[in-house]
Amino acid sequence: MNEIRRILAVESSCDETSAAVLEGRVVRSNIISTQIEIHKKYGGVVPEVASRKHFENIIPVVDAALEKAGCTLEEIDGFAVTHGPGLVGALLIGLTYVKSLAFALEKPFLGVNHIEGHIAANYIEHPELVPPFVCLVASGGHSHLVKVIDYDRFEILGRTRDDAAGEAFDKVARALGLGYPGGPNIEKLALEGDPKAIRFPRAALEEGSFDFSFSGLKSAVLNYLNSMEMRGEEVNKADVAASFQQAVTEVLAEKLIRAAEESGSPYAVLAGGVASNKKLREEVQRKGKGKDLKVLFPSPVLCTDNAAMIGCAAHYRFMKGYHSDMELNAMPNLRIGD
Ligand code: KG4
Ligand code: ZN
Repeated sequence: MNEIRRILAVESSCDETSAAVLEGRVVRSNIISTQIEIHKKYGGVVPEVASRKHFENIIPVVDAALEKAGCTLEEIDGFAVTHGPGLVGALLIGLTYVKSLAFALEKPFLGVNHIEGHIAANYIEHPELVPPFVCLVASGGHSHLVKVIDYDRFEILGRTRDDAAGEAFDKVARALGLGYPGGPNIEKLALEGDPKAIRFPRAALEEGSFDFSFSGLKSAVLNYLNSMEMRGEEVNKADVAASFQQAVTEVLAEKLIRAAEESGSPYAVLAGGVASNKKLREEVQRKGKGKDLKVLFPSPVLCTDNAAMIGCAAHYRFMKGYHSDMELNAMPNLRIGD
C-alpha cells in the first residue's frame, strides 16, 4: 500500500494528547499537549480527568498538527491511532475521533500498539536502523525487552514481574516529595547526589533471565527513608535519588546489552519515557563499549508519549498492507505482538 504517503497519527493513551503528520517516515509536525500540570496535584494520572482533557484537546491538537505540516485533512492518505495499551477512556477519545475522520473522508485507518510505537520512534531519527534488533522499552506502564524480528513481528525476551521502571521512578519520587512525573525530577536531583552513597539491591532474578523486578528496590528505598526518619536522622535526598537511579539503570542496561549480544543484534536500542534518562543512556553506552554493538535511542521528545512514533509504526504497517476496520475497539491490556 505504497500510496499511503501522508499519515495523520493520534496518540491519547495516557496523559498526552498528541497529533502528528508524517510523509513516509519523515515527521512534518508532532504536536503534544501534555496534562502533567493538571495531574501533578493528584500525584499521578487520574483517568477520568485524562479522558475529559483529551476530549477538550483532540480537535485543536489535530488542527495544529495539520497547520504546522501545511496540509488539509483532505490531503491525508491514511490515519493512525493508538488503540492500546492504555487507559480505556483516554484511548477511546483518540480512537473514536480518528475512526470518524477516516469514515467521513473514506480513507484507511490503522490501530497501532502503543509499545510498538515507542520502538518505532527510533526509526524516525536513525535511518540506518532496520530489524532485526533488540530494544528495551521502559516507560511508566511497561518494561519490556523486545526482539524486533520485523516491523510487524516481535518476540518478548523479558518483562517486568511487578512495577515498570518508570513506575518505580514515580513511586520513589513521591516518597521523596518530588512530585509527578518522578523520572525527570529524580534525574535532576540525582545530579547533586552520590550514586554510591547507598547500596540499594539490584534484582538480577534467575541466572540468564531477561525479566525485571523493581518492587524490591522500591521497598528498599521506602524502608531506608522510614528507618532514617525513625532514628531522627536527616535524609540526603540527592544521594537517595542518585543511588536509586544507579540501581535501576544498571539492571536495565546490563540486561539490554546481554540480550543484544546473545541475540546477535547489531544494535542495542532504547525506547519509552525512561529512555530519556541520561544516566540510563550513559550506562548502556558504557556497558556496550568494546562490543560489536551500536547503541541507539530517540531524542527525549520522541521517548515520552507522542503521535509521531505512532505514525511511524503505522507507516511500516501500511506498507505491509495492514488496515483496521470500524469494529476496532480500545484495548487497555493489548500486548505487543497481539
Ligand atoms: O512513555 P511514557 O511517556 O508513558 C508511558 O507509556 O508510560 O513514560 C512516562 C514514564 C514516567 O513514569 C516518567 O517518570 C518516566 O517515563 N520518565 C523518566 C524520565 N522522563 C520520563 N524516567 C527517568 N528519567 C527520565 N528523564
Ligand atoms: Zn508510552
